[in-house]
Amino acid sequence: MLSMPTILQLTRKLTERPEPTKPDEIVLRHYSGPRDIETWLEVRRRAFARQKVGIGNWTAADFEREFLSKPWWRPEAMWLAESRRLMLPSVVVGTVTLARRGDCPDAKPVVHWLAVVPSFRRRGLGRFLVSTLEAAVWDAGGRQVWLETHSLWTEAQRLYESMGYEPVDPSSPSGP
Ligand SMILES: CC(C)(COP(=O)(O)OP(=O)(O)OC[C@H]1O[C@@H](n2cnc3c(N)ncnc32)[C@H](O)[C@@H]1OP(=O)(O)O)[C@@H](O)C(=O)NCCC(=O)NCCS
Repeated sequence: MLSMPTILQLTRKLTERPEPTKPDEIVLRHYSGPRDIETWLEVRRRAFARQKVGIGNWTAADFEREFLSKPWWRPEAMWLAESRRLMLPSVVVGTVTLARRGDCPDAKPVVHWLAVVPSFRRRGLGRFLVSTLEAAVWDAGGRQVWLETHSLWTEAQRLYESMGYEPVDPSSPSGP
């Protein structure tokens, strides 16, 4: 019998500062203002286009609701990975955002909207983005990261498993 698709809550405890390994030809930067809204929406559209559980098209208003209007939002919370190849214009090929769940002071650091465009996958960019976020959490004093993903998003599940993420124990005090 097929199991029902579900939302998975995963977490990882950090025992040392992650050392992100940057893939070749990638330059990382933060959100730099309204011109990045369309850029982010395009990466999201391309990254999720072939997912079994699809996601609807978003507009700038959705971006505003999801990021800019949040109490935790700041431009440094969003990373955009640009591919810079010789003679070619630079193009954003991946992104991740460090969100916060819950109210201060114990707001939990959350991996939010990790996405890598299909043509740039399996080169270590997803892992680089997540470890960059984890290093930022570590530098801010955090020692645990949470995230939600979908049981049918297998690439994401494999990535998180390979990085040591485990299902959240709902009975633990650090649970969801
Ligand atoms: C999930 C995603 C971000 C991974 O990006 P990526 O740049 O391809 O990931 P990486 O190259 O860093 O992969 C790191 C590890 O994850 C695992 N992995 C990633 N994709 C995999 C796949 N298709 N099959 C099996 N393992 C995979 C592997 O262990 C891989 O290490 P390896 O290449 O040395 O074997 C990308 O597939 C994506 O954007 N998917 C659609 C959007 C999505 O699901 N986002 C997450 C929402 S929670």
